[in-house]
Amino acid sequence: MAAFDDFIIAIEEGIQQRDLQKLTFSNYRGSIPELENVYVKLVEIKRELMLSFVYRYKTKDITKNFALSDYLAEFLRLTEFKGFRSLNLNRGKEILFLQRNKKGDWHERKEQGLIQNQVSLQHDHHKERKLNDLSKKYLQSLNLTDASGKVYKNAQDKWKQINHYIELLSTSLKELPAERKVQVVDMGSGKGYLTFALYDYLRYTLNRDVQVTGVEYRKDLVEFCNQVAQEASFDDLHFVEGSIVDYQAEEKMDVLIALHACDTATDDAIFKGIQDEAALIVVAPCCHKQVRRELEKSKLSNDLDFMTQYGIFLERHAEMLTDSIRALILNYYGYDTKVMQFISDQHTPKNVMIVAQKKTIKPDAQDRVLKKLDSLKQYFGLEYQHLERLCGLEKVTR
Ligand SMILES: C[S@@+](CC[C@H](N)C(=O)[O-])C[C@H]1O[C@@H](n2cnc3c(N)ncnc32)[C@H](O)[C@@H]1O
Repeated sequence: MAAFDDFIIAIEEGIQQRDLQKLTFSNYRGSIPELENVYVKLVEIKRELMLSFVYRYKTKDITKNFALSDYLAEFLRLTEFKGFRSLNLNRGKEILFLQRNKKGDWHERKEQGLIQNQVSLQHDHHKERKLNDLSKKYLQSLNLTDASGKVYKNAQDKWKQINHYIELLSTSLKELPAERKVQVVDMGSGKGYLTFALYDYLRYTLNRDVQVTGVEYRKDLVEFCNQVAQEASFDDLHFVEGSIVDYQAEEKMDVLIALHACDTATDDAIFKGIQDEAALIVVAPCCHKQVRRELEKSKLSNDLDFMTQYGIFLERHAEMLTDSIRALILNYYGYDTKVMQFISDQHTPKNVMIVAQKKTIKPDAQDRVLKKLDSLKQYFGLEYQHLERLCGLEKVTR
């Protein structure tokens, strides 16, 4: 048993020295159906160092976190005679292999590793794979990958968009509270590509306790997405049928998402986020018809007629004006806002994403926002903007 005991000592050292990069169990000979591997890494949850065990089955991953006082029992269970026969412990500077032969004896082998760093539990210094398993069932059900995890040719753009989306949000998502279940609502979730990816990233890459709800008024899409979620065993991902404006969240929202919801539906969604004081509000606006109509009315009566007489410039004005006003209103409620390119403009001109993070409300900043809103509306001959109206700021600025 010397090799086996040495291996456990090396795990303990890896925990103490915080250089346990990954412990992998493979070559399973047990009776749990479809279990293929177990991956273990160090994580910090509610300021407590723990070991996160990811059980990889043929079609799903299940994660369980163990306290340092409890993990050994699970380790011994997984390495019973009819269990896993190959283990490898990556401690950066060295990799330790443990193999069991047919007689049941364990043998150990060491290799020099490549990485010298200690494990950082806060920040990943290496490029993190945002969605770390391309063979997941939901990707196949959404027609993004084939059974071997290869992304279909015609799904390459969508796949890039999904990854870019997670990339853009990953820093903000990591700042969400870790000590409780995080509530995420995705309004106008459509076929659910981005909703599923967000759930996958939060639940299985960041190991967060999370409830994700998609809101969508197309019944067929809601039924389809709920079925895919069920088949993938994504137990805390649900889709509900209904309109954004009527949606009543059961729990206070931490994250409000609305991607490509039409026209003022984006305002309805932002308003819900503001009302719930969501920590993060993310929208990718679609069309901007309400402000466009307003600009249309005033286009010949102000000095901007030299531009707004052209349909395409009128459109672009409507977009920039609407989204700048939305960002200003979010500032009014204490949000720091960033506006960034979401999708390459090769694919669509509607490619802006507003990411707003809740900070504190500052009364002097609120005064500045109201004055700015007022002067903007006068300059562009705008009577109102829908979010402004929902928030009751219209009366204040007039
Ligand atoms: C263009 S798709 C975008 C889907 C997804 N968010 C994405 O970006 O891939 C917009 C979806 O929002 C839904 N939708 C638009 N307005 C809505 C509203 N007011 N309430 C509920 N769903 C809405 C539409 O039915 C559609 O499925």
